[in-house]
Formats: sequence, structure tokens, C-alpha cells
Amino acid sequence: MPNTLALLHSKFQKATLEAFPQLSQDDLVDDIAQSTQDKFGHYQFNAAMKLAKPLKRKPRDIAQAIVDKVEAEENGQPCIENLEIAGPGFVNITLDPSFLTERANALIVDPRLGISKPANPKKVIVEFSSPNTAKELHVGHLRSTIIGDCLARLFEFLGENVVRLNHVGDWGTAFGMLIAYIKDEHPGVFTGEEETDLSHLVTWYKASKKRFDSDEDFKSRSRLEVVALQGGDTDSLKAWEVICEISRKAYQEIYDLLDVHIEERGESFYNPLLPGIIEDLESKGLVTVSNGAKCVFVEGFKNRDGDPLPLMVQKSDGGYNYDTTDMAAIRHRCEEEKADRIIYITDLGQATHFAMVFKAAQMAGYYDPKKQEVTHIGFGLVLGPDGKKFSTRAGETERLIDLLTTAVDKAEAIISERDPEMPQDERKALAKALGIGAVKYADLASHRASDYTFSYDRMLRFDGNTAAFLMYAYVRVAGIKRKIDIDIEELIGKEKIALQHPSEIALGLHLTQFSEALNTVAHDLIPNRLTDYLYELANKFNAFFRDCRVEGTEEQSSRLLLCELTARTLKQGLHILGIETVEKM
Ligand code: ARG
Repeated sequence: MPNTLALLHSKFQKATLEAFPQLSQDDLVDDIAQSTQDKFGHYQFNAAMKLAKPLKRKPRDIAQAIVDKVEAEENGQPCIENLEIAGPGFVNITLDPSFLTERANALIVDPRLGISKPANPKKVIVEFSSPNTAKELHVGHLRSTIIGDCLARLFEFLGENVVRLNHVGDWGTAFGMLIAYIKDEHPGVFTGEEETDLSHLVTWYKASKKRFDSDEDFKSRSRLEVVALQGGDTDSLKAWEVICEISRKAYQEIYDLLDVHIEERGESFYNPLLPGIIEDLESKGLVTVSNGAKCVFVEGFKNRDGDPLPLMVQKSDGGYNYDTTDMAAIRHRCEEEKADRIIYITDLGQATHFAMVFKAAQMAGYYDPKKQEVTHIGFGLVLGPDGKKFSTRAGETERLIDLLTTAVDKAEAIISERDPEMPQDERKALAKALGIGAVKYADLASHRASDYTFSYDRMLRFDGNTAAFLMYAYVRVAGIKRKIDIDIEELIGKEKIALQHPSEIALGLHLTQFSEALNTVAHDLIPNRLTDYLYELANKFNAFFRDCRVEGTEEQSSRLLLCELTARTLKQGLHILGIETVEKM
């Protein structure tokens, strides 16, 4: 079933061409939008102003001529109740309640809530999280993980073929120092006699850097380690693998807590492909040697002094780097993985890097914007209450796992206060759903390009635009269902929704717009469009629940079904955000 937006779009296009046969398909603009205020109806048609120029007529006259041609019925049933021309030539569209009723009834019998799977699913690669081996994940990686997981879940629900990739920074010359250091100080780590964890690795990593700068002998041994590692020496590779495994274990703990699944395909995966990249770029005449380094100059990029800024693909010592790996990665994703769409998620600080990689990849013919859609989506900083970059009091960046467990602990304290009687296992499960949900929701609900202030207190509130508020709306429906105690599946087969009261119509309209909200996010990759939608949904539901009695009324069946459709939409929407729903709260 096309969504209402698509349906109105084709109705108005048809009417426009009928009213003005001199226009061609290319003159038509896509100008149907959801109305922002109730007084403007349900949708708006805004094309009359843009058509004024090609038609050389007043927008209001154009709007009138189009309105006269719009087919108010759909399949012999009422669809549009009223069309009103407003202001300079807007058309406010009000739908017929029976049309909305019919749509709502179609949704309640559809497990996919009106979203049909595409006949030819696209391959969508979502690259996110991407921490660095032997370092802790930081809040930037948390944002990437939350946003990336949400987008991956969205495309999965929309029926695309999604590959989730974790581009872990697991390769580079720094591992030489770390291996040399561990061999000196903790050789048992590599023989399996000493157990350790990521926090130790982080400390050793820092210590190894210091020693590298002050100890000539250590420096040359570190370099030999790098040579051995890059040469594929078995012992070195084993040592490196031990380091990766320790890091991986720490990351997995976080992913488990967040319920995030992701395939590790770190920088090391592309290592064997790097020499071929240089060869290929050279054969295509794209490489310029600058101060001994091999560079690709990409038009339009300048450094701070205004000089051309190149992508450096091979250092003067022959080593490869971050840029080289990303060239190999984009080539592999387009040529081998045959991706239709690739989405990279990192902080905004890397925007220039990706813009250059994408351009260079285009120059090399690895990626063709006509065939693939490649996007980097950046996000802002996470700020502390002081308005500065989020960190613990000691000034060290907070360990992510601590941040998450704190959120869960605080959620548990709130729950205990609200309901001291709740059994412990129930309380623990709820605290986890609420604490993790709050962290995710706070991140996704703020526009991803802006900085956002991290506040446990705010994110854990039960009112306002928070996870708890939405989870609570879901719980309310679960409560009504328990109270009325009716087999909902059976009811769906027997009874129908009838939208009558204005609050019912408003809620029904919003429910029919779920697919429109998802399409917007799939297009703009801005998750707060979905949180906004769900927040509105909870508000419309609460208004309906305030205005319309459900239990024991003549409308009980219809209203119960409307509650059920709300709950299903909330659950699905929250699921896409990576947030669990609970039945009691
Ligand atoms: N490891 C990098 C970091 O922590 C992020 C990697 C992003 N992805 C990429 N293809 N470069 O900043």
C-alpha cells in the first residue's frame, strides 16, 4: 500500500497535468508535505508558488485550477474531505476520517505496519563503532555505535540487505612498540601465563610510547617488531592477535550491554590490498610525489595556509596509513561487496578525510556516484554538564562501560523509589532496559550534527522527550489489555477500528504516518526524525486516552484496537532505535 504522502503526490501530479497540459513531467515538483499545524489540515500541497513562473499566472489561480481537478475519491471511497487554498497559494488538505479509518484497519492486520519489502533489496553497508585496538572506546565511539546500530536496524526493517562493519583500528606501526614493551615487561601475556585486560594494555601502550622516545635500544627493537609484523612473522602475528583479542573482549562487553551486533572487519583486513592500491593509483596517473611521500591531490581541498591538501597514500618511508586503508576499503566495498549504499559514521572531525577519500575513489574509478550512494555522516561532541567535552572529574575520558553501568544503576535507584515492592529480577531487567534505553534515546533524540550535553538526570526522566516516557506509553497499553483481558488476535479478526472523536482521528492520522517517518530517516539519515515521530505518537496517544474512555464503552473494541496499533508502532519504532519495551513499569 503506498503511504498517504505518495498517494496524495500522485493525485496532485495527475491534477496538475490535467489542469495545465502544457507542463511536462519534468516541470512537476514534489511538494506534498505533512502539515505542521492542525489548522493547516493534514497535508499541504505547496507547488503552486513554484509553478507561477513557468505558467506565468498567479499562484492562487494555479492552486484553484489544480484543486478543481483533484480526484477526492480513491477506489470509489472517500479520500479527501476538504481542500482549502490559503495564503499565497498553499493548498491545505484534510483527509476524510473514513479514509484514515480504512488505513488504520489495514495496518492492524499487517505485521509490517504498512511497510512492504522492496522487490530488489539494496545492499547497504553501515560502518560504525570502529574503535582502536589497545585503546578504550570513548563517547565518540558510543555515538557512532548508537547511531550506526539504529540506521542498520532501520534498513533491516525496511527490507534491505544490510552489512554492519566495524572498521577497528587494529593495524599500524604503533603495535611494534606495544609488542616490544610487553615482551620486556610482561612476557607472560604472550605465552598465556599472565592474564590481563584492556585497561592494562592502555597503560602499557602509553608507557611504550614514552620508552620509545627516550630509549634508543627500545626504539630500534620496536622498529624491528614492526618489520617482523608487516613481514608476516608468525610470532609477531601471534603477539598482535593476543593484543587484538584482549581489546575485542572489552569491546564485546559493551556491545553485549547495548545489544549491538557487528561484524569486525578492521584495518588489518585491507592490509594485503594496500600495495595494489598504490600500483593502481600510479598506473592511473593520480600519484604525485611530494617530499618523498606519494600523494593524490584532490581538487578543492586546501590546508590552513591555503595550499592544496593531498591525500597521502604512502609515506616517504614506504609505510601505508589511514588514507591508504580507506581507499582500499571503499574499493573493496564497491567492487567486491557490490554495495549499493555505504554509510560511514564518525565524529564530524573526520568529514574532510572522508570527502577526500570519496573524491579520490571517484577519480580512481572505484566508486561511481551514479551507481553507488556513499555518505559520511558526522556527529557532534558529547559535552559534560560544564559544557566542555565529556570527561570524568580526573580529566581522563570516562570509560564507556562505567558510563553505561552508571546509567543502569541510576535507573535502578529510580525504579526502587517509585516501586519498592518490585521483585528484584524484574527490577534488574527493567533497570537495564531503562538505563541503556535512556542513553541511546538521549543520543538519538538530539540532532546528530549538534553537540549534546550528557545528563543522567535528564535522560532518565519520565516526562518529556525521553526513553522512559515512550516506554511508559507502551506499558499503559499493556495495562489496559491486562485489565480488559481479551484475546487481541481474535479481536483483530472480528472487529474494526472506527475513528470518530477528534483525538482518535489525530492519533489515527499519526499512526498512518509511520512509514513516512521511516522513509525520511532512510533518506536524511537523521534519527531524531524518528524519535520526534514517536514522541508525538506518545503525546497523541495520551491525549486520546485522556479524552476517550476505552473500558466498558460501546467503542471498547475499536478503541482497544487503536491502543494495540499504537503499542505495535511504539514497539517497532523503539526497536529500530535499539530500545527494548517492557510490559510493566
Ligand atoms: N578508528 C577510527 C577512530 O577511532 C574510526 C574509523 C572510521 N572509519 C574509517 N573507515 N576510517 O577515529
